[in-house]
Amino acid sequence: MNKTRQADLGTPASHAADTVTVEIDGLPATVQAGSSILRAARESGVDIPKLCATDSVKPFGSCRLCLVEIDGRKGYPASCTTPVEAGMKIRTQTDALAKIRRSVMELYISDHPLDCLTCSANGDCELQDMAGAVGLRDVRYGFDGENHLDAPVDASNPYFQFDASKCIVCSRCVRACDEVQGTFALTIDGRGFKSKVSAGISESFLDSECVSCGACVQACPTATLMEKSIVDHGMPDHKVVTTCAYCGVGCSFQVEMKGEQVVRMTPHKDGQANHGHSCVKGRFAWGYASHRDRVMKPLIRDKTSDPWREVSWDEAIRFAARRFKEIQAEHGRKSIGGITSSRCTNEEVFVVQKLVRAAFGNNNVDTCARVCHSPTGYGLKTTLGTSAGTQPFDSVMDADVIMVIGANPTVAHPVFASQMKRRLREGAQLIVVDPREIGLVRSPHIQAAYHLPLLPGTNVPVINALAHVIVEEGLADEDYVRERCDTDSYEAWKAMIMKPENSPEEVAKVSGVDAETIRAAARLFGRAKNGAIYYGLGVTEHSQGSTMVMGMANLAMATGNLGRSGVGVNPLRGQNNVQGSCDMGSFPHELAGYRHISGDEVRGQFENHWGVTIDPEPGFRIPNMFDAACAGKFKGMYIQGEDLAQSDPDTHHVEAALGSMECIVVQDLFLNETAKFAHVFLPGTSFLEKDGTFINAERRINRVRPVMKAQQGMDEWQITQALSTAMGYPMHYDNAAQIMDEIAELTPTFNHVSFAFLDKVGSVQWPCNDAAPMGTPIMHIDQFVRGKGLFVETDYEPTRERTNRKFPLLLTTGRILSQYNVGAQTRRTANNVWYGEDLLEVHPHDAETRGIRDGELVALASRKGDITLRAKITTRVKPGVVYTTFHNPETGANVVTTEYGDWATDCPEYKVTAVQIAPASHRSVWQEEFAARAKQQGKIVETS
Ligand code: SF4
Ligand code: SF4
Ligand code: SF4
Ligand code: FES
Repeated sequence: MNKTRQADLGTPASHAADTVTVEIDGLPATVQAGSSILRAARESGVDIPKLCATDSVKPFGSCRLCLVEIDGRKGYPASCTTPVEAGMKIRTQTDALAKIRRSVMELYISDHPLDCLTCSANGDCELQDMAGAVGLRDVRYGFDGENHLDAPVDASNPYFQFDASKCIVCSRCVRACDEVQGTFALTIDGRGFKSKVSAGISESFLDSECVSCGACVQACPTATLMEKSIVDHGMPDHKVVTTCAYCGVGCSFQVEMKGEQVVRMTPHKDGQANHGHSCVKGRFAWGYASHRDRVMKPLIRDKTSDPWREVSWDEAIRFAARRFKEIQAEHGRKSIGGITSSRCTNEEVFVVQKLVRAAFGNNNVDTCARVCHSPTGYGLKTTLGTSAGTQPFDSVMDADVIMVIGANPTVAHPVFASQMKRRLREGAQLIVVDPREIGLVRSPHIQAAYHLPLLPGTNVPVINALAHVIVEEGLADEDYVRERCDTDSYEAWKAMIMKPENSPEEVAKVSGVDAETIRAAARLFGRAKNGAIYYGLGVTEHSQGSTMVMGMANLAMATGNLGRSGVGVNPLRGQNNVQGSCDMGSFPHELAGYRHISGDEVRGQFENHWGVTIDPEPGFRIPNMFDAACAGKFKGMYIQGEDLAQSDPDTHHVEAALGSMECIVVQDLFLNETAKFAHVFLPGTSFLEKDGTFINAERRINRVRPVMKAQQGMDEWQITQALSTAMGYPMHYDNAAQIMDEIAELTPTFNHVSFAFLDKVGSVQWPCNDAAPMGTPIMHIDQFVRGKGLFVETDYEPTRERTNRKFPLLLTTGRILSQYNVGAQTRRTANNVWYGEDLLEVHPHDAETRGIRDGELVALASRKGDITLRAKITTRVKPGVVYTTFHNPETGANVVTTEYGDWATDCPEYKVTAVQIAPASHRSVWQEEFAARAKQQGKIVETS
């Protein structure tokens, strides 16, 4: 049998609290009440044959292979659909059962190609296993009757194929698509002998609704649905459990290897964030790690117009250190800084912020979380006392009303979206607050109770109006507030919220959402037993991002929806380690664990440990670094795994800043857009080579384990360590585990964390310390971390970015499922078949009045710049709003976004830009220049 196959207990676990004892083949077995006999037997070590059952989906009872005999019952019940009852006496192996099972298998095998030895599933096929298990030696029916052996193979999906000739119509794939993924893309067409699996309405997988999550492939017991990588390379021979390197869900995966080659990634059933599910990115889009574009040798150059020179690690590190020291000698200690990456491990991030504070001697360190979730940190810390989400993902299964604000989970956090959709199909109600009609609003078996399609930039008045109705109609939980919150702040907040401008009627005029819908949504949320809020960058990336985060926390406190399962204020984090990069102290004003740099006691602990004096003054944030660079005061940057030139707003300004610096060191997998401005390129490692930890959106610290050594010769923390040593501050780590030990020692919320502990328990949610030795799934249970919950007044201050006659439309930005962020990874995979270029979504009315046609080029202009991209005409956006993604550097979506940002944290206002659109016939000037620069960069890289 395939050595990487995960145990299958046949049917899903029962969550009953009590147990029952039965007798299976003469031996007692005590199992959870409500378990199937099949599961009870498997848990007790008795493998009843099965085909149509698997533990990821509800049993179906169609194959008749799992039959058993039960004392006192007639016939042969299917063990997968029969629950245990106390005292049951079950026999799983009798002559009669063996005979029936052999007959069943005979029928299956008589319509199945007998090419086991050459089949890609050989050794990992349940049909093959079952033929052996039931002792099938002979097939009486012959193979010349009517059969499906010539059925065609659908190879349209880039990652897996569907070979209908091998299908036994067990429907595990159909049920996986329905129950696990929630896409309902598959059906069984026809009846009896003619029944067959069909994607969509007899479409190919690629043309159907399929989102390539892989759940059906995982569930298929035969070679019918099979990864192409396995067809090409054969079965894996060993596995390593690690964590997905894409989004903040933090799915756990088995990397399945054949020798040194990765042949498959399968979601790990024990993963506490994903419970065995995955999305197209983590499951299939890992090929970028060995893409030919990956740089494997360090590069240096004196000027950015020079060709790159490949050099040794030593030379590159010496070059970077000398340049940085020269800059500091000439322009002062604070003239350089560093950026940490949320794509990197906590250990890698921690050493970069240490390099800046200890070796650079300043606090000019910031993280890419600046441009996504910094308002979450500010808003939740101010109101509740800690800069993180309040719940585990599983908490959604206890929610009665789910409010999704400025997030599009089905594309950005797909595995959590599948779990949320499961809860919605069970009957929870949904409120969506989003300018676009995101997929959740209407999908198979799901219909949002209310969609509030607000104008970009009006989150705050809408949350205030929801709170207004709740207070006005007596739906606030006054007892909860009295017991748990600061009542003075509550009274002040109530007075603010009851101002006339916060009434739904007034807010309707600002937001474009009608008052009745606001009132109805508020009543639904206010009356919920458990109301949960989930939000994303559509909340934070505004000039009032922090205000809105506090507005949601106010609402949750006022309705008593914090501190237990099913409730909470939950940021859906973008990148895999956004939470971790913030936790690790990579903000310019905070040390690890969100402790202010000016605090003498905390700073003293770090100073003692590191043997240096740390500057008590906060350093530059990313936008300050750019401004200082343009003013000639900031000259050097060490940039870890972050493509500032593509991802940060107002590209012209960013390019001017980067272009003015004297030494930019980029550490990355690929020569990204920022590398075009760099003097040193230090090749990084992919997640397959990293040893460390990521922290997901639910504060879960997951292990990242290497499946191969660093392909370019050095771990990333070693590179930073070498640079620090060359700068005059030696670091002495021998391995990544030692870095985590230091983090744990210096950070109270991590005191109990170590690699050994994580390897033992799987994963843990911080705080994890003496007070919570096994971690903290739900925050603020008895009291808020800050003591009493603080209500903060959230008066609406509109953005300075306004529409006018010249720029009458509002542009908002977002993501799609198959591409990821700046696309550096996913653009180097077959995911491009789903989305090869950034498109501009335009409402038919706006398109018609401007003569814009679907699929044609359109010029998009703002006060900051202009680009050209293809139009997609859709009613997903409302009139007056256009939408695009930012996955392709050549599109340059950030050329048009503005320099405005959140008042508290400077998180850029990506979500609101006043624009005009018009038909176009050619690319913009910036795009032409970009293409020329890309060509030149390609020419001058020496790769000897
Ligand atoms: S494709 Fe696989 S899982 Fe689906 S019905 Fe056929 S054999 Fe069963
Ligand atoms: S890959 Fe996922 S979405 Fe596509 S058919 Fe299979 S289960 Fe459904
Ligand atoms: S949901 Fe996120 S973490 Fe999970 S597989 Fe997809 S990209 Fe990876
Ligand atoms: S496994 Fe029970 S009927 Fe198929």
